[in-house]
Amino acid sequence: MPNERKREFGQVVNALKQSAETKFQELKTALEAQAEQASAQGIDLTAPGEPLPLGARHPIAITMNRIIEIFSRIGFAVADGPEIEHDWYNFTAMNTPEDHPARDMQDTFYVVDAPGMLLRTHTSNVQARVMTTRKPPIRIIAPGRVYRNETISARSHAQFHQVEGLYIDEGVSFADMKQTLLYFAQEMFGAPKIRLRPSFFPFTEPSAEMDVWLGTDTEENYRLTKGTGWLEILGCGMVDPQVLENCGIDSRQYSGFAFGMGIERQALRLFGIPDIRLLFENDVRMLRQFAASV
Ligand code: PHE
Repeated sequence: MPNERKREFGQVVNALKQSAETKFQELKTALEAQAEQASAQGIDLTAPGEPLPLGARHPIAITMNRIIEIFSRIGFAVADGPEIEHDWYNFTAMNTPEDHPARDMQDTFYVVDAPGMLLRTHTSNVQARVMTTRKPPIRIIAPGRVYRNETISARSHAQFHQVEGLYIDEGVSFADMKQTLLYFAQEMFGAPKIRLRPSFFPFTEPSAEMDVWLGTDTEENYRLTKGTGWLEILGCGMVDPQVLENCGIDSRQYSGFAFGMGIERQALRLFGIPDIRLLFENDVRMLRQFAASV
């Protein structure tokens, strides 16, 4: 500040300082008065706050997120669909017309008041919904809740979760499927190898069940794999050309593979939970244990 202006400047700064001090004093007095009033009422403003209860992710969500994360690394996007579904998307489009014996594979809850509506028995309805509304290339995974009319026990439940995958483009082959599933098995289970066994699904041809190699080194793996070292994880196959045609995709131009797996058994194994029913009872004493596993 040049000498001749120092005086004027000093006055302005002083005024600012004084006004700040006055304000500070005013607020201090007001707060002290409040605190006095509060303590007169028996409230201690200096006491630490009540901790807010923090939620934890459900073991099923944790397991699903892991699977989603693995597939999203290789270009699969998450797709969604309704749980209360039209028969066509759940069955007919998936090459399982009414009265087809394959419907018996999935015992179904039908909506009594709405003919043609049901609780989806698998997340394959999302395949049909995506294929009828999008053009290939399609590369999606569909996580979600499904329902089957099954007796509830320690090993199975009438509601459960699946993650399904679908990849359609020109020239997609069985070898592409095998390599994709091997990658998943390595990332999810640290499994060095997989095994594909012939199987049947109405919507894939050929179809297979995939086992992952856990080995029999530990007692748990011996028990889980019944001494074989192999654990069955998912169903898969090349999308039946009829399914592509049902959904308006030219099966001479495009091919693809699909796979579907249950989540509960994987979650039980991952977290050492002994009974599937524990997953659905919403007992926070059980669920809280997984807060740190997110
Ligand atoms: N939707 C089948 C099931 O729930 C699983 C599956 C999906 C099989 C996709 C093959 C291809 O049993």
